[in-house]
Order: sequence, then C-alpha cells, then structure tokens
Amino acid sequence: PIDSLNPAADVLALASTEVDLSPVDVGQRITVTWRGKPVFIDHRTAEEIEEARSVDLGDLVDPQPDEDRVQQAEWLVLVGICTHLGCVPLGQRSGDPRGDFGGWFCPCHGSHYDTSGRIRKGPAPRNLEVPGYAFLEDSTIKIG
Ligand code: FES
Repeated sequence: PIDSLNPAADVLALASTEVDLSPVDVGQRITVTWRGKPVFIDHRTAEEIEEARSVDLGDLVDPQPDEDRVQQAEWLVLVGICTHLGCVPLGQRSGDPRGDFGGWFCPCHGSHYDTSGRIRKGPAPRNLEVPGYAFLEDSTIKIG
C-alpha cells in the first residue's frame, strides 16, 4: 500500500522538533533535545551580536562570519556538543562559566567558544555546529 512509503508519525516526531521561542527573553538561553542531542538556543543581546560581528575573521580557528551562522541575528541555534571530544559545554545555565569570549566553555580540556559559538581557544578544532532549522513564524522554529 502507498501508506508504507511514508514514515510513521512517531518517526517524524523524532526527526524534527518545534520550539516556541516567545517565552525566551533577551539574554536567555534554553536547551532542547533533538535526535538525542542537546541544542542550544540563545536569544542574543545587542552586545553579543555586536561582539560576534566585530571579530576579525583572520583571528578565527574555523573562520566563519556570524551572518552565515544565524538566520535572525537575535537567535543563535547550535548543537551543544563540543567538537573536541563531544562534551556538552557550559554556559546554558545562569552562573555557568562562559569562557573568555562570552559564549560557552568546555571544561574537559578548556575550549572557549564565542557569542557565535565559534571556537576561539583550546583544543576543539571546529565551531559548534549549526543544525538545519527553519522559522515557521516569527516565534517558532522547527529544528531538523
Ligand atoms: Fe570540549 Fe574536550 S570535549 S574541550
């Protein structure tokens, strides 16, 4: 039957995650789970956006403009897994260390990420990954 060509509804539910961003205040970060991975959503402040955009790309280990890592400047969406050995970096909870560049800090071997989730210092070789996602409306994103 033609039905068998379509994945089951529960499979679809696991493959993507819709997140309502409206309760997330400026400066707040939330973590959601997508395909078993933590996804960091950061409602960036104007200062954090400015910081991310004023960096000289030549200073970056994994050069990528902030503009290429976000769809809307206020919203940074990242897979929360350090590109060194796969730890979950700190910085999501208030009071967490955020490292020397105001983003995230991975205490395993001291990787520091900036306000665009780019690696700035420490052994991690690459920026935090940006998952595929889409804005469904102004305040909802669908990850995956
Ligand atoms: Fe992040 Fe090692 S896993 S520094």
